[in-house]
Amino acid sequence: MKINLPYAGIVLLIGPSNSGKSTLLRELVKKGDILTSEVISSDECRILVGDIDFIDYQRSERDEADILYDQYQHISAEAFSILDQIIQSRCRLNKLTFVDATHLYPDDRKKYIAIARANHVPIVSIIMDVDQNDLLTRDKNRENPRGIKRIKQQYQVFKREKRFIKKEGYLATYTISNSSAVEIVRSNNPV
Ligand code: GTP
Ligand code: MG
Repeated sequence: MKINLPYAGIVLLIGPSNSGKSTLLRELVKKGDILTSEVISSDECRILVGDIDFIDYQRSERDEADILYDQYQHISAEAFSILDQIIQSRCRLNKLTFVDATHLYPDDRKKYIAIARANHVPIVSIIMDVDQNDLLTRDKNRENPRGIKRIKQQYQVFKREKRFIKKEGYLATYTISNSSAVEIVRSNNPV
């Protein structure tokens, strides 16, 4: 699939864990289609501020799970604060930025639509649409599995949300299920 991208602005990846967001972006960097510095991910920001990208609180006993959940929420809040600041700076500098996070809830996406509008740059969405069974199989084989419960929860939200995304105000919305079949076409026009 051909994906047309503006010169500057925000490219929002949308999809549950294991839908292949980070894999797609890594492949695009490897192909030379995009720069490493054009990608910002919530996982990387969690590591930057809190040393970890994931806490598996759902596997713990109740009391411990509550503590770990709180820790994860705090780290996530600080991570997104940094992430949003970087995106805003890059928009002000007329740069293109790929945001690698799940963006499953409307408020997560609205925030970036507002940032793009405030900075007079476009926003494009790329929906990673992968079957639940494939998400679960990939989770089993990955280094730090996110867990069946979490994947199923995320998939339910994604299934509910995906029909609304197109109408949220993006310059374009692309839906892909296979990252290897993506061809990026970038605009050279900085206006
Ligand atoms: P989160 O960061 O948890 O939100 O997930 P993600 O959407 O970034 O998924 P990621 O790209 O990290 O991929 C998760 C696992 O799925 C990895 O083990 C990948 O190798 C695997 N994976 C990603 N894309 C594909 C694909 O197109 N086909 C197959 N078979 N596996 C894939
Ligand atoms: Mg990822």
